[in-house]
Amino acid sequence: MKRNNDFIPNAFDPLTGKTTWESPSNIALVKYWGKYGQQLPSNPSISFTLSHCKTITEVAFSPREKQGDGFSFDFLFEGKETPAFHPKIEAFFERILPYAPYIKDHHLAISSKNTFPHSSGIASSASGMSAMALGILSIEHLNNPMDEDSFYKKASFLARLGSGSAARSIQGPMMSWGKTAAFSGSSDDFASPFAETLHPVFTTYKDTILLIDQGQKKVSSTVGHNLMKNNPYAPARFEQAHTHMKQLKSILESGDVQAFIPLVESEALTLHALMMASQPAFILMHPNTLTVLNKVEEFRQDTGLHLCFTLDAGANVHLLYPQEEEQPIAHFIKTELAAFCQERQYIDDEVGTGAKKV
Ligand code: PMV
Repeated sequence: MKRNNDFIPNAFDPLTGKTTWESPSNIALVKYWGKYGQQLPSNPSISFTLSHCKTITEVAFSPREKQGDGFSFDFLFEGKETPAFHPKIEAFFERILPYAPYIKDHHLAISSKNTFPHSSGIASSASGMSAMALGILSIEHLNNPMDEDSFYKKASFLARLGSGSAARSIQGPMMSWGKTAAFSGSSDDFASPFAETLHPVFTTYKDTILLIDQGQKKVSSTVGHNLMKNNPYAPARFEQAHTHMKQLKSILESGDVQAFIPLVESEALTLHALMMASQPAFILMHPNTLTVLNKVEEFRQDTGLHLCFTLDAGANVHLLYPQEEEQPIAHFIKTELAAFCQERQYIDDEVGTGAKKV
């Protein structure tokens, strides 16, 4: 695998310390679906950084007593030993090792918790992997302080190696990831904050997440991304993502909430259509997902308000709307849509500013 020499640090003696980061989840507007090489995206994507759905991770580090082949770490999730997470963490460490060789010289005691239910279908890998990447990078930063821009760039680069979408959780309120003509300085290696002037309406956008069907994912993202390799519609899709990035960029600058709706909804439906057109095929919507999508459209026609939906690779629905329309939309969600959520559960979130050191 080709290495990116920009992110390889100088060697240093092991340190002792502790660092805690909280990092949010994010919701993509233009979706990343399909990858190549080492966690590089087949198309560019852009997301709102969320505010309340986040992972809080403490990394305590100390010089490793005995050098060995593997990594030396403990991992507690919500206060409990969780060996089931170890293979994923080890795979992450293995991938970041060329860029963070010091993890082999330290014992890492990692303790992590989420502010949202783990298997609710909210992208816990985005918040989880970005929080861990920030914790690990803080060890290097202690030895050789980096300027803010370099620190966040490398954090995004490391987070990407854990989970692609995690690259977009580091900063806010919007992050784009993946090389594309419309965004100068864009890169497949790391995500960057939206560099243009974001219209104020989008800096306070709301995201209410309807928990339609909680539980294990039907298809892991790794399997899903790989299915794009033989998807007959992949080339057209990748091209469409570039067009959508360009169109969305001007919508985000102008604050055109009306034009935002069809673009964002088309992205969500395309993601699901791609999965339905994969071999094997996956239908990830639940009947209640479809009911909600229809109700959102009716509500919009009846009220003229700017409520729209987006979806992840699952049954849950993210409802996006301007803050100033919150009151009638919150009433609609409570009285008309909550009935279609598992145990009437939904989470009110909004656009946030990115990860923070605690
Ligand atoms: O980060 P991953 O590999 O779990 O992929 C996430 C893919 C989507 O959530 C479906 C879309 C996106 O851009 O976040």
